[in-house]
Amino acid sequence: MLIKIKREWELPESAATPESVYWNRRHFLRGLAAGPALLGGAALAAGKAFAADEVDPSAALYPAPRNTAYEGGRPLTDEEAATTYNNFYEFGSHKQISKVAQNLKIRPWAVTIDGAVDKPMSLAIDDLLAKMPLEERVYRHRCVEAWAMTVPWTGFQLSHLIDLAQPRSDAKYVTMQTFLDKEIAPGQRQHWYPWPYVEGLTMAEARNELSFIATGIYGRPMPKQNGAPLRLAVPWKYGFKHIKSIVRFTFSATRPKGFWEVLQSREYGFWANVNPEVPHPRWSQATERLLGSDERVPTQLYNGYAAQVADLYRDLSNERLFM
Ligand code: MTE
Repeated sequence: MLIKIKREWELPESAATPESVYWNRRHFLRGLAAGPALLGGAALAAGKAFAADEVDPSAALYPAPRNTAYEGGRPLTDEEAATTYNNFYEFGSHKQISKVAQNLKIRPWAVTIDGAVDKPMSLAIDDLLAKMPLEERVYRHRCVEAWAMTVPWTGFQLSHLIDLAQPRSDAKYVTMQTFLDKEIAPGQRQHWYPWPYVEGLTMAEARNELSFIATGIYGRPMPKQNGAPLRLAVPWKYGFKHIKSIVRFTFSATRPKGFWEVLQSREYGFWANVNPEVPHPRWSQATERLLGSDERVPTQLYNGYAAQVADLYRDLSNERLFM
């Protein structure tokens, strides 16, 4: 496929606007907005815009108890930074999509479970949430673009959803799919992308204790720009695996191809495990910039989660595990 798309992560870090410049510009713009529409302007700028009649029906479930077995090992990222610097190509191929993402309608929201299961089903998100044991975990997140954050997700272990789905023994993979609605998602009108966004895991990966379906962040329901009402968190893998706003889980015997793998398989693969020693074809993965600051820190193998996941890959040395 011929791809003539300029993605943010095609820029070397040195060519990107330094974050300090970006924040200064934001504060300047917010100051301008503060005249006639002070409250609305500030709330919108912070990406926390909810119409007065749009209270998330799951709000009472938050905050959930913290599971202290999962701590980030470094200070939490500033909430504003994590909720206003996003990748969500359905809403644009830049980072400032938090306002336009408010057009996403998150109720009603049905989650379909199908494929290699004896009983395919469709559940309303609030019924699914009622069945799942919600907890809070602090995870590190490492984007393939070499920025990183440390955030408290609320949600449930993916293994609980698999237990509910009861996949057949021929199920070797689970594929997740994002909503498709080009009326509200302008990016989906760009026909050269292979919509809808999909991502997949092996069953062993999906059952790993770290694989988490996040439904909230910072002790509140997931903001739309971060992937409401449910998104994946697999912290040992690059961020593009962390599919947002999921509508379908499909179990299969065959390996799926993810959105980025379909677009550019020389650069993005199925496994996408973090490894500082395997550079992206166009930039180093040795270090990462912590979101909300200018600090760079060394990147760790499997993003520091080797103890939990390295065994998954022992017999797979012929695979492209780190892209
Ligand atoms: N999911 C969908 N549906 N669309 C996307 O564009 N971007 C991915 C991932 N999930 C993406 C997605 C990428 S590249 C990253 S780094 C993370 O979402 C970013 O998550 P965040 O915005 O909550 O930090």
